[in-house]
Amino acid sequence: MQWHILGAGAIGLLWAAKLQRAGHRVTLILSGPQKLNQYNEIEHFSVTSEGLTDRFNADAELAEHTVPIHHLLITTKSFAAVDAFNSIRHRLAGNARILLLHNGMGPQQQLVDENPQLEIWAGSTTDGAYFESPWNLVRAGIGDTQIGRLSEYGDEQFFEEMASVDGKLTMTTDINTVLWRKLAINCAINPLTALYDCRNGELLKYTDRRAAMAQICKEVDSVANALGITLFDRKLMEQAWDVAELTGRNHSSMQQDVSHNRTTEIETITGFFCKAAKQTSIPVPANQLVLEAIRNINEPDDY
Ligand SMILES: NC(=O)c1ccc[n+]([C@@H]2O[C@H](COP(=O)([O-])OP(=O)(O)OC[C@H]3O[C@@H](n4cnc5c(N)ncnc54)[C@H](OP(=O)(O)O)[C@@H]3O)[C@@H](O)[C@H]2O)c1
Repeated sequence: MQWHILGAGAIGLLWAAKLQRAGHRVTLILSGPQKLNQYNEIEHFSVTSEGLTDRFNADAELAEHTVPIHHLLITTKSFAAVDAFNSIRHRLAGNARILLLHNGMGPQQQLVDENPQLEIWAGSTTDGAYFESPWNLVRAGIGDTQIGRLSEYGDEQFFEEMASVDGKLTMTTDINTVLWRKLAINCAINPLTALYDCRNGELLKYTDRRAAMAQICKEVDSVANALGITLFDRKLMEQAWDVAELTGRNHSSMQQDVSHNRTTEIETITGFFCKAAKQTSIPVPANQLVLEAIRNINEPDDY
């Protein structure tokens, strides 16, 4: 099967490798001519996992290309997903299947609302990967991925195809709740690690950081409850504490984005949450505070 990957970053190339290993053909749709020239000089990327490095030769092209797209994986950062999708929209075949795999919420539902005739799936992953150098990826952790259909249209065949690509993939009939759970954990950990410029585990070491995290979690629990969303079978603070402890040595993506002066995913994480809170009468001052603080902390230079 032919797959197109829109967003050939860490998660995109990780999935390109998984798809190629499973026998699929993969074409990377790159962000611009400079990136395409860079790739065409080497025409491969590599993935290092548990000390072993494998090399992959995917094709690469730009959005302007005219070949129809039947299977599309979108792995941009959340803030880029809608624009990226619109850049290839004209190429989508009538029966195209689309999977969005990014953190944060908002773009997934927006694409479904704007394209009700398309089969759109969304996913959430605990896979971890980073670039050692351009086109050389290191798989940091072998995680779980859950996917579920968001659109009215479609059937389970897509999941069966994907399950043969990743043995740790599972399907959910309630992807919205899965996305909310990931969002809740991200709200609890990511903005604070960026503001305190610390590793995940260092949130738990200081009273003021724990107090801020507890307040954020309390607000998220209250709003989710009011919206009828079941987060965890215990308080979010307890869940987030365990995640921060388990990933204690890690730098969150938001901490890294802020420290490198890159655009963060704050608008689709805490921003999405604060908008959702407006549908309830529940005030969310702790989340609003970190939202404004991250908005103000750096003037991203990579728009
Ligand atoms: N990395 C991880 O370990 C990890 C783990 C779990 C979840 N996630 C989530 O997965 C998502 C992707 O993360 P990532 O780490 O893979 O990000 P990333 O490395 O920054 O990759 C995003 C890619 O999207 C490309 N892109 C942006 N706009 C595009 C467009 N219009 N057309 C084509 N390509 C475009 C970027 O290209 P340029 O660089 O050329 O702009 C970049 O290569 C995020 O939501 C992240 O939070 C990541």
